[in-house]
Amino acid sequence: MRRKPYVFITRELPDSTIEPLLDLARVSMWEESDRPVTRRRLEVEAAEADALLTMVSDPVDRELLEGAPNLRVVSNMGVGYDNVDLEAANELGILVCNTPDILTETTADLTFALLLASARRITEASELVRSGSWQEWGPMLMAGRDVYGKTLGIVGMGRIGTAVAKRASGFNMNILYHNRTRKKETESVTGASWVELEELLQESDFVVCLAPLTEETKRMFSYEQFRRMKETAFFINASRGGLVYEKGLVKALEERQIAGAGLDVFEEEPIDPGHPLLSFPNVTVLPHIGSASVDTRKEMARMASRNIAHVLKGYRPKAIVNRVE
Ligand code: DGY
Repeated sequence: MRRKPYVFITRELPDSTIEPLLDLARVSMWEESDRPVTRRRLEVEAAEADALLTMVSDPVDRELLEGAPNLRVVSNMGVGYDNVDLEAANELGILVCNTPDILTETTADLTFALLLASARRITEASELVRSGSWQEWGPMLMAGRDVYGKTLGIVGMGRIGTAVAKRASGFNMNILYHNRTRKKETESVTGASWVELEELLQESDFVVCLAPLTEETKRMFSYEQFRRMKETAFFINASRGGLVYEKGLVKALEERQIAGAGLDVFEEEPIDPGHPLLSFPNVTVLPHIGSASVDTRKEMARMASRNIAHVLKGYRPKAIVNRVE
């Protein structure tokens, strides 16, 4: 009798989201939802698995893939897949899938929330109240910066960038963007204009990073880029921490080259509580929650399960991100 395929899921997910797999495979999960699977356990499971359902925080590297002789698909629960060694997966004939589209609007909401929170000092002001330090109403108390009518510069005009631009047009913002390719449709819907990165950095009141992390984009924001921004401008990152050289950002903040930053992502996650970035009151920080609404996260888990189910049934899922026939 043919052996039933084996699927390992690297985090505890709600049962309803893995239904597409239950008739097709033996399924097991890492038992915790808030702590990542240990490397040892992942290696042991990968050695047996036909499919892995992974999180964006799991390093799926060459060593792991080479130790997985039955593996046919890595289904990553996220639109980003920089945690997976695509070159190794290509060589080994392992499909890699992601979960695009379904998280676009949720992530755009969070990106815009981070922009608003940074400009209007929301977390700082909230902390003032909670800590009992709010003494009096004051004419300039917690005065921040306006968002409406200002210039937004989006670096990486993909689906999420476009959704952020739509929100910004409702705030009557002037929208600039920089992307490898021109996005004519986005331009006509939102009025966004393509500019060189240099011009975007110089002109924007809010520079929003939404480009994917690749060899080309790694550390594309360093001290030099922050120094070119306006002293009144904010840097917002809702993509990947690896796009930023954090020491350069710290230096720019120390020298007040920019007004502040809003960061949902970091070079190292979770960020060390003693990291210098956390010492600036004008840096709003979040724990990588771009797509974290209950509905969207469940939908992402379902899509990641469906991607595996398709492969096990012998079909090609739509959301394949590598080159394997
Ligand atoms: C993604 O989808 O890549 C996000 O970063 C996960 O929330």
